[in-house]
Amino acid sequence: MLNGKKILLAVTGSIAAYKAAFLVRLLVKNGAQVKVVMSEAATSFITPLTLSTLSKHPVVQHFTNDEQAGVWNNHVELGMWADIMLVAPASANTLAKMAYGHCDNVLLATYLSAKCPVFIAPAMDLDMFLHPATVENIERVKRFGNHVIDAEHGELASGLEGKGRMAEPEHIIDYLESYFSAQETQPLNGKKVLITAGPTYEKIDPVRFIGNHSSGKMGFALAEEAAALGAEVELISGPSALNTVHQNIHLTRVTSAEEMATVVMQKVDGAAIGIFSAAVADYTPESTADQKIKKKDAALEIKLKPTTDILKTVGSQKKEGQIIVGFALETEDEEQNAQGKLERKNCDLIVLNSLNDKGAGFGHDTNRVKIFSRDNNSWEFQLMSKSEVAKSLWEIITTHYVK
Ligand code: CTP
Repeated sequence: MLNGKKILLAVTGSIAAYKAAFLVRLLVKNGAQVKVVMSEAATSFITPLTLSTLSKHPVVQHFTNDEQAGVWNNHVELGMWADIMLVAPASANTLAKMAYGHCDNVLLATYLSAKCPVFIAPAMDLDMFLHPATVENIERVKRFGNHVIDAEHGELASGLEGKGRMAEPEHIIDYLESYFSAQETQPLNGKKVLITAGPTYEKIDPVRFIGNHSSGKMGFALAEEAAALGAEVELISGPSALNTVHQNIHLTRVTSAEEMATVVMQKVDGAAIGIFSAAVADYTPESTADQKIKKKDAALEIKLKPTTDILKTVGSQKKEGQIIVGFALETEDEEQNAQGKLERKNCDLIVLNSLNDKGAGFGHDTNRVKIFSRDNNSWEFQLMSKSEVAKSLWEIITTHYVK
């Protein structure tokens, strides 16, 4: 059943649009609330009146409702209302536009602004479906985190026969039902997770800073994996070129250690799990020059003062049941230093990465880690991608620590 689920159905111009009527009826019958948005081309195949009658809501077709009165159809609100957006049928044209971020109708604007998971059921003839451009577009929309429901989920499809055909409404419903029930059994379902990532920049004067080579890759990978396991993620990152993909990651970008500390302290209380993978500067200039510091013959001295140790502060105020994970980057006496940090900063787990390992650490796509726990367990891994490291760490956390 889809009891109470809010489903925004986007119907585009394909002959399969006639099936949208059955789809709406079935969704409603299964307990869902349905609102419909249509592309112009879809209205040649099925009337908005049919879909508004079946869904019991007005159908959105244009950016404005009454152009003269200037009544705006709020596509952002529509996206916010929905638990999921379902694009069915998705024509080759709409699919291509979704793959490249085009926004020439209200349906696409809704898609681009939607924060909820998006499901796409392509519908087109076999040749169009097999064209390399379409194949690539499907891969692209999947990469953005969308779910593609193809006809292979339907029993009619065998081999090429059903390809391109829209999945039958019954199978779309099955797919959505299993998605929602899988969501509910996800190990981090509904849990709030806080992650720090990236370097910090400590300002010397208007043009210079003290920074480090951290790229943020490890922290961003941890955030994506946590979101994929059902968590609501607060990602707090210093300057990094990376962007997030999953909808359930809320990213706050900061610059300095102090800014990072402030945001973390605001958000950490509600977090069940905190992972501190940022390479935070330990020192910051005692004062920042208002003007660019001019070159002189004499040596320049910049006095530095310690920054707040974010992990240590959070560790010392750890809430009952909160799980705190630190990172340690070491170049000597690695294990001993990491164990020391685990104790000193009151962590449950610490992830050691050594700069002595080839291909591991700053800027690399790979990392080689050892993980130590407060209760004297340890796990050692080979060199692997940062997203595999993220998976392994989350597996340890979800199997041993999450109740
Ligand atoms: N950390 C932090 N705030 C700081 C410094 C470090 O939250 N101001 C966190 C890092 O995110 C990491 C852990 O503390 O999870 C260890 O960081 P690391 O730089 O290895 O250790 P330091 O405590 O800075 O010790 P040292 O530089 O002496 O190795």
